[in-house]
Amino acid sequence: MIPQPFVVKLLYLTLIATVLGATTVQPPKASEPKPFAYKQTNRKQILRRMKMKGRDRRAQPSNLPGVPDVSPSTDDTVTYYYFHLGSGYIENDNNPSNDSEFAPPQETTFGGDQGEAVQACADFSWDQGYFAFQVYYRKSRDQWTCRSYIEAYTDDRSDSSYFNVPDPDVTLAYGYQQKY
Ligand SMILES: *[C@@H]1O[C@H](CO)[C@@H](O)[C@H](O)[C@H]1NC(C)=O
Repeated sequence: MIPQPFVVKLLYLTLIATVLGATTVQPPKASEPKPFAYKQTNRKQILRRMKMKGRDRRAQPSNLPGVPDVSPSTDDTVTYYYFHLGSGYIENDNNPSNDSEFAPPQETTFGGDQGEAVQACADFSWDQGYFAFQVYYRKSRDQWTCRSYIEAYTDDRSDSSYFNVPDPDVTLAYGYQQKY
């Protein structure tokens, strides 16, 4: 029979070897490539989560889809900020974000609900390289009009006071623009 102290010593050595093996072999493996990959995915996830949270928070009390800020689907680091919701009026082309004669307003139309129309208009505006837009619902045509403005200069921001062109056919009108 093997003497008891020897078994204890063997177990002890095995334990030490395991602990040493774990502490000396693992860190270089785990710590070298990980931090970079971890940080990147994490930041993206946080941004995505923040946006989801914002959507939930605002959509519920107001019950008005489309009011949350919106990012173009091709670039979630870009944000068009909501600044206007109204009805019966559309935005005047003579607004501060229509600020370059070389880049006149661009327009297109969509179907769909508010949320889809706002998203589609953000995508359209971003594709044009335009930083502001109004998107409004025309009852007679059951259709959304998306009108984008260049907003070429940082401080040329529009506001609700420029939604001053009466149009009783328009039952819902939104204004969005970037802050940069
Ligand atoms: C704003 O838009 C209109 C088109 O409705 C255009 O005629 C006008 O020149 C634009 N303003 C500027 C400053 O570019």
